[in-house]
Amino acid sequence: MASLISAVPRRLQGKVALITGGASGIGECTARVFAHHGAKVVIADIQDELSHSVCESIGPSSCTYVHCDVTDEYQMKNAIDKAVATYGKLDITFNNAGVIDQNKPLIIDNEKPDFDRVLSVNATGVFLGIKHAARVMVPARSGCIISTASVCSALGGAASHAYTASKHAVLGLTRNAATELGQFGIRVNCLSPFACATPLAKKFVGINKEELEKMTSLHANLKGVALKTEDVANAALFLASEEARYVSGHNLFIDGGFTTCNSSFCMFHYPGDS
Ligand SMILES: NC(=O)c1ccc[n+]([C@@H]2O[C@H](COP(=O)([O-])OP(=O)(O)OC[C@H]3O[C@@H](n4cnc5c(N)ncnc54)[C@H](O)[C@@H]3O)[C@@H](O)[C@H]2O)c1
Repeated sequence: MASLISAVPRRLQGKVALITGGASGIGECTARVFAHHGAKVVIADIQDELSHSVCESIGPSSCTYVHCDVTDEYQMKNAIDKAVATYGKLDITFNNAGVIDQNKPLIIDNEKPDFDRVLSVNATGVFLGIKHAARVMVPARSGCIISTASVCSALGGAASHAYTASKHAVLGLTRNAATELGQFGIRVNCLSPFACATPLAKKFVGINKEELEKMTSLHANLKGVALKTEDVANAALFLASEEARYVSGHNLFIDGGFTTCNSSFCMFHYPGDS
């Protein structure tokens, strides 16, 4: 694994984690990081072949796959039950599966079926993931639920109407669920990354990895660093670990400071700015 992933200690030793969207991108990388830190990982995804090969490369003793379309409540329930049946419990759920629609600049050109599809995966899928994780975590009186939001949970204008609405919904669900489930010792948080080169991001902006990294490095105020999937996975590792035992209801930005400043009115300038 790349050097961005710390070698020791094994921060999730003895934990069981379910990761939706674990076949690709951020989810795949997080599955590798969690397993590396001692967790048993269940990948829940709709890409069967890819998921099996990810599990195989992580190692069948640490990783299993369950086919799960997160928009289908029966399949979501089944995935959570499979994690418990396979490993005896569920400590961590990472609601990470997500999709994005085509980038159409005018709302009048946006079609309702596309809007519904994005909301269905990104918002309803997270609702179902939280609901069924809570079903098994409440009786256990502990658990950690993490969902992938985006910088679009805080900003307008960075992606489509459907995607932006869905990521605001992830933040709302995170805050509501944290408020409700805290009484059972369950922590609920979300992650808000800027863009990193995954199939989803490359499809949306229609550019390759190098161009994407150049674009984000231009807009983030932290210079000289490009966001990698490992950075998001490491943030998920922190939230899942004991080090975050008093962190709940939080939206953790992994954005190089992008959302902290409105660059259209900024008193600080970098060499090379026009
Ligand atoms: N890559 C970025 O720049 C970026 C930035 C901010 C947030 N995100 C969010 O990160 C999450 C992961 O995206 P990624 O960039 O790794 O993209 P990705 O396309 O590499 O991975 C998404 C995964 O979700 C799975 N998936 C899609 N629909 C599903 C469904 N109905 N049920 C189960 N699984 C499904 C896909 O099969 C895929 O494995 C998404 O929620 C995305 O919105 C990504």
